[in-house]
This record gives sequence, C-alpha cells and structure tokens, in this order.
Amino acid sequence: MKVSRIDQLLKDKKIGLEVSVQGWVRTFRSNRFIALNDGSSIRNLQCVVDFEAFDEQQLKLITTGACIEVTGDLVASMGAGQEVEIQVKKLKIHGASDAEKYPLQPKKHSLEFLREIAHLRPRTQTFGAVFRIRHHVSFAIHQYFHQRGFFNVHTPIITGSDAEGAGEMFRVSTIDPANPPRNEDGTLNYKEDFFEKPVNLTVSGQLEAELFATALGKVYTFGPTFRAENSNTSRHLAEFWMIEPEVAFANLHDNMDLAEDFLQSVIKSVLENCREDLEFLSQRLVDEEKGLAAAERSSMSLIEKLEFVVNNSFRRVSYTEAIDILKNSKPNKKKKFNYIIEEWGADLQSEHERYLVEKHFQSPVILFDYPAKIKAFYMRLNEDGKTVRAMDVLFPGIGEIIGGSQREERYDVLKKKMEDFHIEPEELYWYLDTRRFGTCEHSGFGLGFERLVQFVTGMSNIRDVIPFPRTPGNCEF
Ligand code: 4AD
Ligand code: MG
Repeated sequence: MKVSRIDQLLKDKKIGLEVSVQGWVRTFRSNRFIALNDGSSIRNLQCVVDFEAFDEQQLKLITTGACIEVTGDLVASMGAGQEVEIQVKKLKIHGASDAEKYPLQPKKHSLEFLREIAHLRPRTQTFGAVFRIRHHVSFAIHQYFHQRGFFNVHTPIITGSDAEGAGEMFRVSTIDPANPPRNEDGTLNYKEDFFEKPVNLTVSGQLEAELFATALGKVYTFGPTFRAENSNTSRHLAEFWMIEPEVAFANLHDNMDLAEDFLQSVIKSVLENCREDLEFLSQRLVDEEKGLAAAERSSMSLIEKLEFVVNNSFRRVSYTEAIDILKNSKPNKKKKFNYIIEEWGADLQSEHERYLVEKHFQSPVILFDYPAKIKAFYMRLNEDGKTVRAMDVLFPGIGEIIGGSQREERYDVLKKKMEDFHIEPEELYWYLDTRRFGTCEHSGFGLGFERLVQFVTGMSNIRDVIPFPRTPGNCEF
C-alpha cells in the first residue's frame, strides 16, 4: 500500500480510508495512544492500538524515538486535540530506540542543549518547524528570481582571488602541514600545492556574478560562503549561505526597490505557506517571554512582525542623516553605546543599526550613501567624491540583513580605487576587463540567508537556523 504523509492525511481527513504511515514515535500513552510524527508537519498523527490485538513484545518496542510504520483505517477521533486518528490494524517496527538513553525525552529542552545534539534536534517540534520554514524560504527565493527572468549562476566555492576584502578567509591546500615544501628563502612553495598558488574558500560570489550580469543581464547566486572571523555572536557563522542578485542597467535606487520587493515577497510567501509552523513558533516566543516584565515583552507577535514588514515600506535614510540622528540620540549623549558616535565617517556598529530600526524608526531601514572609506573598493563613487552608492538593509532584532551597492563601472575610477585600497589590478584583471569591454551601470546585493531565516522564525541565535552550525571552535557532525 502507498504510504501517506501525515500533513496530507490531516488536511484531507478522508474518514474510512485505509492508510499506512511511517514515522517516529513522540509519545506512547496508556499502552494505547501513539503520537506519531513523520516530519511533514508540526502536527502528530494519533494512532490508536488495541493492546489485546498485538504481541506484548512488539508493544514494548513502541518507545519515544522509535521508528515505526502503522497501517489502519482513518476514523473520526473521540478525543480532544485531533479530528482524525488511525485505528491501527498492522504495526511494523523499523528501528527500536533505547528509551532510557534517548536524549530527546518528551519534555522541554534548552536550545543550548539541543545544539549539542544537532544530529537529533530536527526531531523536535521547534527545529522541525525551523527547518521546514528554511526550505520554504529557499524555495521562495528561487521562485522570486526565476519568475522575474533572473538566471541562477553557480559561482565557485574555491577561489584564487582574495581581493574583495569582505572577511578573513579559510585557506584550501593539500600541502602536508607537518612537512611543507619550502623555497630557498624558507617561504612556502605554493608551486607544489594543488592549485600551484594560494587559494581560499570564497567570502562572496559577487565579483563572478558581475561577470555574468554583464552577459546574461539579470543573475543571482545562492551558495555557501565562508568567513574566518573570530566573531562569536548570535548573528555570525563561519559557514553561511548568501543570495547575491546582480543586475545590469540598474542603479542604486533600482537596487533598493529590488531588495525591498524581494524581502517582502519572500516573507509573504512564508506567511502563506508555513502557517502552522509559524503559529507554533509565534506561540513559542510568547511562552518564552512570559517570565519577563510587560515592558520587556515584544510589542508584536512573530506573525504580526512579519505582516508589518510585508505591509509597510522600508524607510530610506542616507548615512549622513543617520549619523545626525545617532549623534543626537539619548544613548549616545548618555554614553550608553559601547561605541560613541563622534563624527561623520564613523563605521556603524550593530548597536547603532538596531537603535535606528528598533527605537527611532520602528521599521526596517535602508541606509545608503556611506563614506567611501568604510566600504568596499568596487562601490560607485558619488559626485561628492567622498561617499559611495552603498546600501545596507537593517531589520529589527537582526541589524544588517542585506549589504549591497551600485558598482563602479568606470574603468579609470575603479583602477584608481583599487590602487588606493592596495589591491593589485593584475590580480583582478578579469574583473577590470568587464569595464574595458562594454561596461554598463549595474548593481547588486547580498542577503545573509540565515539572518533572514532568523527573522522569519524568530530564533534569536543564528546557530539554531542552520542544520549544522560552524563557528569558532565548533565543527561537530
Ligand atoms: O555585507 P556583506 O559582507 O556583502 C558582501 O559580501 C557583498 N559581496 C554582497 C553583494 O553586494 N553582492 O555580506 C552580505 C550579507 C550581510 O548583510 C549579512 O546578512 C550576511 O551576508 N553575512 C553573514 N551572515 C552570517 N554570518 C556571517 N559571518 C556573515 N557575514 C555577512
Ligand atoms: Mg555588510
């Protein structure tokens, strides 16, 4: 018999139908009621066994964590909590579970504890919901771009250029660290290494995406990125996924329009397609905040927050305006910020970004036209000669979720910029070539995928929205 998925059975409610279901036991009550979950839904299917009809040894194997298959008729449920249940006729144990040693006992576990058993945590309600939503976010992103004529480009993961300067890089090498080949002067002889030169894991696919945008018009990347910064925060990973659209003939304003429409569309799609999981996570946050004083609780539920972002325009504010606001803000004057804003040109820290979004504007914000000195070499220089067409999208609870810019398309200006930033133009000759052969205005941005999943699920730590987090000192599983 064809095996059914629980989400479908609970939706169709075809009373009288004989069905088979495979899944993992959440609980087994009174030797009679199995709560079975197959991962398709936050909801369990209640399976009712008549213990007299089954072998006692077999029933003993139905413990929390065990993998089983049941076959029986779908009937209207007498009990509260579910509309339908299965009256079990046949039972198969796929894999018993050592009930005493199973780390996921049916009780509340801390997220920190669950991080230590990341191989089992997708079996919990919270992580099941998070990872189903993660899938939907990914799917909605591909769908968004595909429907608008963008082409997905697979940019390389191993890269020979380290010029973007987006972060510290991980070296990739096959050299034996215990016995490295050396030149006469004692330096490493990279000629003996696999690629015959130093190479790294990529920090971004942008430069390669630009090459494709100036050929296919509208492209996007969606791939893993690696940064070896030693930042142990709730918003940084050493390995994370980034989405980088790049559009020919687009200026900074087109870029801001795209970023806003893109985020709103993806979040809207999740609101439409992940209702039950979102309701569960929304309630989870309410429960978590129960111990807090009223003033410290969130003013909006998770779902309300998502709806707010979908239905309200993002505030667009220049860096210069933002600095004025921050300079005159209470936490700056009372020296509550860790980094006091003294003057124009200061780099913004996440405490400043969050003040603007959460306290001042109470809305997502797009900051643009940053000082050239604090942004990457490839951003287009404005007429004032001191700011560049950069933009950062800032979200409540997250801070920077997107970073992007209009690119410098003028060969001479770009080359001069590279020299100022001490980047050898020869090293990036292929990047400069696009400016020699048919250059055009173009723009793009990078969205941190996990930061978006954090926002959508309300999870406060980025390690809880990626299946197997990599952070300093942590590369288990
Ligand atoms: O602002 P970033 O460094 O921009 C770039 O890499 C550009 N090349 C993007 C482009 O214009 N195509 O990174 C983009 C986004 C950030 O806004 C943030 O959301 C995320 O990537 N991000 C991280 N997410 C998790 N862990 C980290 N260590 C991250 N570093 C950046
Ligand atoms: Mg950035």
